[in-house]
Order: sequence, then structure tokens, then C-alpha cells
Amino acid sequence: GQKIGVFTSGGDAQGMNAAVRAIVRVGMFLGCKVFYIKEGYQGMVDGGDNIQEATWQSSSNIINVGGTVIGSARCMDFKERWGRLKAAQNLIYWGITNLIAIGGDGSLTGANCFRLEWPSLVRELVDKDMISKDKIAQCSHLNIVGLVGSIDNDFCGTDMTIGVDSALHRIQEAVDSIMTTAVSHKRGFVLEIMGRNCGYLPLAAGISSEATAIFIPEDPPVGDWRQALCDQMTEKSKSGEVRRTHIILVAEGAIDREGNAIKCYDVQKVLTDQMKMDVRVTVLGHVQRGGNASAFDRLLATRMGAEAVLALMDATPTTPACVICLDGSDIVRRHLLNAVQKTKKVVELMGERRFEDVVQLRGRQ
Ligand code: F6P
Repeated sequence: GQKIGVFTSGGDAQGMNAAVRAIVRVGMFLGCKVFYIKEGYQGMVDGGDNIQEATWQSSSNIINVGGTVIGSARCMDFKERWGRLKAAQNLIYWGITNLIAIGGDGSLTGANCFRLEWPSLVRELVDKDMISKDKIAQCSHLNIVGLVGSIDNDFCGTDMTIGVDSALHRIQEAVDSIMTTAVSHKRGFVLEIMGRNCGYLPLAAGISSEATAIFIPEDPPVGDWRQALCDQMTEKSKSGEVRRTHIILVAEGAIDREGNAIKCYDVQKVLTDQMKMDVRVTVLGHVQRGGNASAFDRLLATRMGAEAVLALMDATPTTPACVICLDGSDIVRRHLLNAVQKTKKVVELMGERRFEDVVQLRGRQ
């Protein structure tokens, strides 16, 4: 049987455990040995107890748990050649030549580079006597499949990433909770929504919670946003709409057309000074990444995990690495490097403030 290593990397996301569970079970069902690589790339570099064979039992009772039970890290050592050399040595020691990486775009880029570099790493390990020559035949190539685990929904190629739906639930719960106190006191609330430079979470949460205004990075307000916000609220009250509160969602990466950050406290100041409102600020932060996974994320991650194992079984030395994506309601395999490059391009375009191009590229597969 083949040997498959699975690891979670970068920021954790609800649903990662469901993916790990599916990978272990589908892998075992197909006669493979599956290994947990704990603490992300750091565990791969450090080896030792971080690499452990998975059992059916050890993947029980984790589908309902949030975060990632096999640990995650943002690893600096793997960015260095010596770190990747050690990682390759550890994988070869265990005979692992199939990897499933669950993480965001940074983690998946790392996985793809590792795969491309693999033959030269193996050569260097042999030259330095770090592995024996007889190992070469069985580890001449490394197969990689990516799964996107990230609450941000910022990866091009998939309609949803693992964790987004649960994070949205968490935001919704928080907004609903804030609403009761806000309405009681006739107060406004400005909420900062985490999501790096992607506005998906604040946009979706804003629609489902009747927010008065939403600030997202991809569609910065045109002109003077302070005045526009006040005008919008004045018009609403003139039209007879009586509101005991106003909820305003501000993406972590919100900016104006010139690229200046729009922060919750800027919005609070405008509402306090110009609208004479009593306004509080709440930064949701890592609460969004906390708690257990929604049913949707458990199903999505299970389907993606199963497909990842099947993709590994189909892989040949010349098949390009793939990433498992959601297309409508279908689970599909897409070219990992293309998806990563598009995702990076979006970040570049954001930096150049080419917002229309960002929206276009995000919308396309
Ligand atoms: O990518 C997930 C994410 O939670 C982003 O929304 C946020 O900007 C970042 O990670 C926070 O990183 P950390 O957990 O390292 O503080």
C-alpha cells in the first residue's frame, strides 16, 4: 500500500478535522497507510514524534471538534532550503511520498515548490549521506494534493474554502448577540471582521444581519465615505425608517480608493461627531476561527478529503499537483499552481488598487 502524509498548516479553520478524518478513513479503506504530520511544516522539519501513523480509532470523535487536532503552525524553517532538506529526509525515512496539505494559499504554494524541488532535495540527501542510495528508487517523486482550509474564502478556483461557513455562523451569532444590547441602549455598533484582504465574510454577514453599511477591501467607497455614510443614515431616518440601532461591518483590510485603511475607530468617530450617536466598537478577531464546524463545513471537508485521496491514487510522476475545489455543488480537481498564481495575482491587483480586475479575477475559475 501507498503511504500518505496529511498535515494542516497556517491559520486553523473549522472543518480541518473532518478533512483529516476523511483522508485517514478513505486512505485506509483503499489499503494505504496514513500518517499524521503534526504541527504543520514545522513537524515535517522536526520529525520525531510529530510523524505518527493514523488509526481508524484516532480519527474518531474529531469531526465535531473545531480547530485542528493535529496542530498547525506558520513555519519559517520550511522557507529555508535546509528546513526542506530535513523535511524530505523525515518523509523518506517513513517512506511517505504522497502528501495532502490542508491550508491557505501560502501553505499550498510551499507544498507545490517542495514537490518541484523534490528531485534535487533527494540528490542532495544522497550526496550528504543523509539517506541511503537504495531509498532513491522508491522515493523518486512526491505527489501533492492541496485542500484549502481558511476562513477567509480568498482562494481562486474554489467557491468555498473549508471554514468559511462556520466563521460566518460565528459572526452571525456575535452580531445577533450585539443587536440585543445595541437595541436596548439605542447604540450603534461598529464591528471589525477578520478576513485579511478579502471582503467575503463581512459582505455575507452584512447581508444576513441587515447591516447599515459594509466596508470591504474590494469595493472601496467612492468619494468622501464619511459624508456618504452620514447622508445615507440621515436619508433613512427622513424616510420614516425608525431604527434603534445601526450595525456597521468593517473588514480587517478595508481601505478607501486611495488605499488608506478604514478602521472601526474612524467610523465610530464620524458617527459620534457628526451624527451625535452613542457608538461602541467590537473587534471579533479569532472568535471567528473558534468553536466547532458547521454541518456544511463538515460535509464539504469530508467530500474534499475523500477526493484528495482519490486524486493521489490517480497521480503519476507527470501529473501536475492539484487542489480540490468546490464548483457550484460539485467537488472538482484543479491545477494547484494555476489556482495559487491567480490568488497571488489578486493580492497584487489589490496592491495596485485595480479593484474591477480583482472582482473579475475572483469571479472566474
Ligand atoms: O487567514 C486566516 C486569518 O485568520 C486571517 O483572517 C487573519 O488576517 C489572520 O489569519 C490572522 O493570523 P494569526 O492567527 O496568525 O493572528
